[in-house]
Amino acid sequence: MDSIEADAAVLKRRWLERRTSFSSRDRSGVWRFRELLPDTYSASGVVTLAEGNTPVVAGRKTAEWAGVKHLWFKHLGWNPTGSFKDLGMTVGMTEAKFSGAKAVACASTGNTAASLAAYAARAGVTGRVYLPAGQASNNKLAQALDFGAEIVQIEGSFDDALNRLLESDDPDLYFLNSINPFRVEGQKTAMFELLEQFNWQPPDYLVVPGGNLGNSSAFGKAFAELCRFGFIDRVPRMIIVQAEGANPLARMWNAHEAELTPLAHPETVATAIRIGNPRSWKKALRGVEATGGAVMDVTDEEIGEAKTLIGHDGIGCEPASATTLAGIRKLTSEGKLDRDASIVAILTGHVLKDTDYIIKAQEKRQARKDAAAGSKWEGTLAPQA
Ligand code: F0G
Repeated sequence: MDSIEADAAVLKRRWLERRTSFSSRDRSGVWRFRELLPDTYSASGVVTLAEGNTPVVAGRKTAEWAGVKHLWFKHLGWNPTGSFKDLGMTVGMTEAKFSGAKAVACASTGNTAASLAAYAARAGVTGRVYLPAGQASNNKLAQALDFGAEIVQIEGSFDDALNRLLESDDPDLYFLNSINPFRVEGQKTAMFELLEQFNWQPPDYLVVPGGNLGNSSAFGKAFAELCRFGFIDRVPRMIIVQAEGANPLARMWNAHEAELTPLAHPETVATAIRIGNPRSWKKALRGVEATGGAVMDVTDEEIGEAKTLIGHDGIGCEPASATTLAGIRKLTSEGKLDRDASIVAILTGHVLKDTDYIIKAQEKRQARKDAAAGSKWEGTLAPQA
């Protein structure tokens, strides 16, 4: 890879030029970075749905609310299946197909399931998803069904579902969880693209939601590679934000412990990150430490307020993504973040990923308003059966 170092300037130009190509591999916001990806595949072997190439959107009301001057959102929810998972899935599924897999599987809180289902359908292989019964949002479940995946509902949490999958001894099943190294490779391109959008001048902070911690691990790897190969000479501080009820890494960080203690019963309204035993915590922590970042948590209430602001800024996201803005506001209010700093928050899921949450939140708001006004509101915004 020595030649890559000398070629950083050439690659920066080539990666951008590929956006104007008509080849599906060049047009993919993952595969256009293929010099830094496993790339033993022919152009026709690549399983792509034109993922990536997502915009950076400036925060307005959100920036004001969080008390910062320079805030941007990189919206990875504007991917083909509505979440960041598509970036890793295109590489994972391409490798699965290349290695002759007939069936692929993952455990999921919903988004990986939707993504795996779509890419498996494109690859022409069977997709099987293990979900914690009754916990994934209906929208995500509907996507997995629509793309024709087999659904296995497991009593218990995401962690139980993942354990069940890992115990499976079906030799014909190719595992596509976020610990799959090919998924990590695809996921890291989000940072190549982000830095390209900033003309290779890193922002001061990158704020990322934390669940199973695959995403933050991939971002840490991306920064290490970009520095090593001469694309950038400094990195953003990476802040991971967890939900308070599903915060094993934040607890470990605050207590200065050396090992993570899993939570047996994670609980948060942000169902995407209701995870008590994140598998990639060591790699994620390495990324935080290497960039001079931090780990923190926010309450469900703070997530709800931040999500409302992101919606009112015309952007929208699912609850787990709103941990980022909630985290930024918390840091500024505690005086821990310079208001002049440049900050990028990663939005991981589309606003339509959890519509029940939005309707229920509105019903609660309305009920509170009516209670304050002395009248009792008995209506509902949810569709009637
Ligand atoms: N945001 C959303 C919308 C997610 O779906 C997830 C994870 C995360 C954040 C956290 O990312 O796990 O890499 O730290 N969703 C997984 C799933 C677990 O199964 O869809 P992470």
